[in-house]
Amino acid sequence: MSNLSPILADDRDERSFEDPLDLMDEIDRLKVEKDAVILAHFYVDGEIQDIADYTGDSLKLARDATQVGQSTIVFAGVHFMAESAKIMNRQKRVLIPDLLAGCSLAESCPPDRLAAFQKELRDEERDFVTVAYINTSAAVKSLCDWIVTSGNARELIEERVPEDKEILFVPDQHLGRYLMEVTGREMILWPGACMVHEMFSLQDLLRAKRNHPGSLVVAHPECPQNILEVSDFVGGTEKMRQFCMSLDKPATILVATESEMIHPLKRSAPQHAYIPVPGIMTETGETCACNRCPHMARNTLQKVRDCLRDGQPEITWQSYFDKAKDVLERSLLENTRQAAKMNGD
Ligand code: 13P
Ligand code: SF4
Repeated sequence: MSNLSPILADDRDERSFEDPLDLMDEIDRLKVEKDAVILAHFYVDGEIQDIADYTGDSLKLARDATQVGQSTIVFAGVHFMAESAKIMNRQKRVLIPDLLAGCSLAESCPPDRLAAFQKELRDEERDFVTVAYINTSAAVKSLCDWIVTSGNARELIEERVPEDKEILFVPDQHLGRYLMEVTGREMILWPGACMVHEMFSLQDLLRAKRNHPGSLVVAHPECPQNILEVSDFVGGTEKMRQFCMSLDKPATILVATESEMIHPLKRSAPQHAYIPVPGIMTETGETCACNRCPHMARNTLQKVRDCLRDGQPEITWQSYFDKAKDVLERSLLENTRQAAKMNGD
């Protein structure tokens, strides 16, 4: 992913305005004409989620990508997601609306640095396995033993990583620390972090709780420990959605994750009021909009239409995808308790 810079301004303003309803009609027509299907992550703009054929968290979308019948997949998300979809579907054309939609976590773990660190550990005769969060490049995945998402990490580690092995967990230190806590396993943590979740401010969250007495806090495990400690529920985006759906009684829910997540929450559990937790306080006392992922925000209806129409940008097959395919399929598609649960078994 050397063509990515970690923080990229949203370039939507450079384009002339087009009526979203017209764009949606055009996208519907192009989907049929091009034999295409649209997958959209919960963090992309709500209007893209509305026209998508599949929406979900990283885990569900990776699995959905292997089930679709169409010859073209448009992945409205970020690069590692589209890349994973290509890796598990070599025969299909996988398009991404903006090739520059990266991820600060994936950026934090270049393959050469990981390989060098693994060598150091081996030279010390450490008996370890490398578990990578799916938010990594394919080149990094090809160096790892297991790939996890926030949706299956705990189950996979508990069920499939032998207890006598040390775990090197890359690249999210916050998710890794949380997994150490819930699995009781010691881990060597890579010092990466999500640029969105790391910015949540405890001060702001406590103030929001005080302003909304009786409210509940739901938080993504990519948040730092001080945020998780004051949360009522910790889970990835799909688990968060399930949790909100499970509460019949209307509640006020403070949401400590990317702000577009409120769109699927409102759709799935409209009985609640959702309040996005703001990012860190600025010197003026105002809050900044740090809870929007600039990479996810690169996806627009216009770009979805353009990539459907033009057949690009496309994720093309790379030689190291073969190794990444083995580990991805073993980790995400083989039966685990989690996969069985998702299938309603
Ligand atoms: P999940 O959808 O797996 O919860 O992940 C969140 C995320 O940061 C995706 O980039
Ligand atoms: Fe990466 Fe964070 Fe954006 Fe998810 S929200 S894509 S982890 S930068």
